[in-house]
Amino acid sequence: MTWDFEQLRRQARDEILKTLAPKELEDCRIKYLGRKGLVQEIYAGLARLSKEDKPRVGKGANDLKNFITALLDEQSSKLKRGRNEKKPTLDVTLPGVYPPLGRQHILTQIVEEVCGIFKGLGFVVKEGPEVETEFNNFTALNIPVDHPSRDAFDTFYLRQADSKRKDRNLLLRSQTSPVQIRVMRNNKPPLAVVAPGKVYRPDAVDATHSFMFHQIEGLLVDKGVTFAELKGLLTEFCHRFFGKDVKMRFRPHFFPFTEPSAEVDISWDSSKKSSKKWLEIMGCGLVHPKVFESCGYKKGEYTGLAFGMGVERMAMLRYGINDIRLFYENDQRFLNQF
Ligand code: DAH
Repeated sequence: MTWDFEQLRRQARDEILKTLAPKELEDCRIKYLGRKGLVQEIYAGLARLSKEDKPRVGKGANDLKNFITALLDEQSSKLKRGRNEKKPTLDVTLPGVYPPLGRQHILTQIVEEVCGIFKGLGFVVKEGPEVETEFNNFTALNIPVDHPSRDAFDTFYLRQADSKRKDRNLLLRSQTSPVQIRVMRNNKPPLAVVAPGKVYRPDAVDATHSFMFHQIEGLLVDKGVTFAELKGLLTEFCHRFFGKDVKMRFRPHFFPFTEPSAEVDISWDSSKKSSKKWLEIMGCGLVHPKVFESCGYKKGEYTGLAFGMGVERMAMLRYGINDIRLFYENDQRFLNQF
């Protein structure tokens, strides 16, 4: 019997690589390398061969055996690997993998909360542009061009819209109060609005100052609005925002666009030694007649109350944050705490 080793190799290879289970592979091994297998059969036939053929066939059988052994090993580990991969990869008892969840910035949360409180008290939310006219930001609010209180607010000017009317210049608003003007000019009282937004000041950045920060303006216009109403409203607001036992006070102050004017302070623990300090959280007052006048309202027809608070200040007070810059650095370790 002559053996075509090349053909046998091919045949064995095809059969072995086709196997899908260890049992099939074992059958292949028995078929080729078993005691009654093909390789043994070749060895058994060697005795009958001529002296010349013996070494060639013997070597052929050895090579075939080595070839098949290597193939069996290779296929065996391939099947094992496949089995491992098919093992269930879902362990339902493991805690789930949560995608990182976004959240609102702490300042946005405060804005929404404050506006929510005022909405509950009958106010609507209105927003004004950050680029304002000098007229709305100053003049209409009873801060004429040469008024000294402009200095603290003298802000970032954009361009001269009308060189003859200096108060038509455009600027980045230094307060949310110009929204009062926009609302009064475009709506008829009774009005009750809150206006949140960014404001800009020429302040150098330090732990308590930034060239940009956030305010929430409030305005209520109707007939017969009194200072008592202003006090009642803002007291209710402070109770809802800081809690019923917050200590607050109204301290007389000056603002060009309100008369009389006050600042609201709340008492807070400045340190662990429980030394109490008063901290200003907003300005307020009754709308100045000059402001009504610049909105085209008839003299004495309406009365109103207004207030304006700093959003960063509210967050700093409530959470004991001592550096305003933390709000703008977008460090997740800070933001994720709220
Ligand atoms: N606009 C003032 C500021 O930026 C805050 C303010 C004070 C707003 C009194 C008001 C107000 O509406 O009545 O400092």
